[in-house]
Amino acid sequence: MTVLLQVSDPHFGTEDASVVVALERLTTELRPDVLLLSGDITQRATRAQFAAARAFVDRLGVPACVAIPGNHDIPLFDVVARSLRPYARYAAAFGDDLEPRFENGDALVLGVNTTRWYRHQDGAVSAAQIERVATQLSSATRTQWRIVVVHQPLAVTLTKDLKNLARGHEAALRRWREAGADLVVGGHIHLPYVLQLPGPAQTNGKAEPRTLWVAQAGTAISRRVRPEAGNSVNVIRVEATPRRAVIERWDHDAAARRFARVGSHALASAIAPTDAAKDEGVGS
Ligand SMILES: [Fe+2]
Ligand SMILES: [Fe+2]
Repeated sequence: MTVLLQVSDPHFGTEDASVVVALERLTTELRPDVLLLSGDITQRATRAQFAAARAFVDRLGVPACVAIPGNHDIPLFDVVARSLRPYARYAAAFGDDLEPRFENGDALVLGVNTTRWYRHQDGAVSAAQIERVATQLSSATRTQWRIVVVHQPLAVTLTKDLKNLARGHEAALRRWREAGADLVVGGHIHLPYVLQLPGPAQTNGKAEPRTLWVAQAGTAISRRVRPEAGNSVNVIRVEATPRRAVIERWDHDAAARRFARVGSHALASAIAPTDAAKDEGVGS
């Protein structure tokens, strides 16, 4: 069993100190193996905010971290920095690799940088990114859970959030599903939900080989919450053998000053015969 803690949109500079303490306590209790930082780590991409975020991540002490930038992690008002070295401050705190990966026997996790310095808030997934991720997904073992981390969402639940979809979302979901992705996790809109995406129309009576899920997390610790959603994180538990996975949503309870589990989704565990055949070298 591998436990992944998704902390999204902390927006350091706007953090609620009591929620930070509660999240540190939750992390101590859960002892996750992997921290997924799905962007908007800072509010204004200042060195001080990145330093605070880095110190927070170090305090959590999670053995592995897959961090990607969000649109707020690029300087907004410093036009020179924004255009010439948009990720310099991010990289100083979280490393030069803007698309890191994590892999063990239970999971393959691939980070994708969906920010664009010239687009302000809008995100995008390029054709090259789609293919790179698809190639890596295809190299996963038969039982690994294949997880992609983005910032701007690839699927939304509300009409008003359609404008927040990353450009290229349809192509990315289609291609990554073909390549065997199980789950795409994101942030940006500060609204937690889990979606089971319908597959393409069945052909020749064959069922869609894999179910693709999208899981969004709310803002973990920021005061920039939506009216309908407070602070939240996702806890993702995956296991290769037996193959099973669950996404838990943990909301901050202000009265209790702690995070509490408020719901969970068990992901489909079946492995398609086509995957098994491919793994045994008899597929096409
Ligand atoms: Fe955000
Ligand atoms: Fe964002």
